[in-house]
Amino acid sequence: MSTQTTGTIAVFGATGQQGGAVVDALLAHGARVRALVRDPRSDRARALAARGVELAAVRTDDPASLAAALAAVAGFSFMTPEANSLEEVETEIRIGTALVDAAVGAGVPHVVFNSVFGADRKRGVPHHDSKHAIEEHLRASGLRASMVRATAFMENFAGVLAPSLEHGEIVLRMPLPEDAALKMISIRDIGRVIAALLLGTAQAPGGAVELVGDELTGPRIAALFGAHAGLPARYEVLPLSVLPTDLDRVMFREFAKAAEHPGDPAAVRSIEPATLDLAQWIRATDWTPPTDAAAA
Ligand SMILES: NC(=O)c1ccc[n+]([C@@H]2O[C@H](COP(=O)([O-])OP(=O)(O)OC[C@H]3O[C@@H](n4cnc5c(N)ncnc54)[C@H](OP(=O)(O)O)[C@@H]3O)[C@@H](O)[C@H]2O)c1
Repeated sequence: MSTQTTGTIAVFGATGQQGGAVVDALLAHGARVRALVRDPRSDRARALAARGVELAAVRTDDPASLAAALAAVAGFSFMTPEANSLEEVETEIRIGTALVDAAVGAGVPHVVFNSVFGADRKRGVPHHDSKHAIEEHLRASGLRASMVRATAFMENFAGVLAPSLEHGEIVLRMPLPEDAALKMISIRDIGRVIAALLLGTAQAPGGAVELVGDELTGPRIAALFGAHAGLPARYEVLPLSVLPTDLDRVMFREFAKAAEHPGDPAAVRSIEPATLDLAQWIRATDWTPPTDAAAA
């Protein structure tokens, strides 16, 4: 597919999951990409350069480095790093604010922010309210801005939320009530939506798009993994106390509340028709069950 812009697109977080997916999607469209990285000599940065990505060394507390990195770009995609404490939440806001201010200084024509579902307003989840604050700062900046509000990454099911295999049965455990549907999106699709917005092949209605590729209860998710493996499956609700931080506990309480309000998967598919649902993600990643923990 040809691009509608020939300018360079800047990506912050390109060595990470979401930014990496943005780079993948932009390169797939033949776009020129400049990655804003802390260390151009890191393995991940070098791997980007090997794929034709220009590297710009930045420090978010060095406005001159950001100004140079954003000079004459046609668009800018940025995420903000994970915050696991209130101190890191402040850092996240500082980084987001510095990136927006640099984009203003450079007169970037279109900025896309990897925000989070629910960040349209303050909800008492510190690492989501931080994204609301960055959204507000970006909106007030006068720049053309699009907020891309991701829900839980499907990739968590290959990591922190991975189902286990116990006595020949797939077991999924989450601190979420049985009847609460978790909203989710694949990281690949986050990148594809952002690329479509920056390349002008799609618009975010009202300047924001909520990324819901699927919305499923724990028992339904477990059943999908079981069906793929050809094994029985069950879901168990965990107490919120299993979560490592207060921030995560507040976030999972909010997930349960958000489950009462269905998302709009059609909105994301109007931008990226091939957006994966969970069953497709399980097939696409060729998910295989782990070793049977109980049999070991
Ligand atoms: N997990 C979920 O289900 C979920 C869902 C929705 C939203 N989110 C949000 O997604 C965000 C994390 O995204 P991700 O998973 O794509 O992150 P990630 O894979 O951890 O990548 C972090 C990126 O940020 C860069 N970075 C970190 N600190 C930096 C700093 N001080 N200065 C410059 N660059 C810095 C890293 O670059 P280096 O190469 O220099 O380290 C890396 O490219 C969090 O804000 C989280 O709240 C997560």
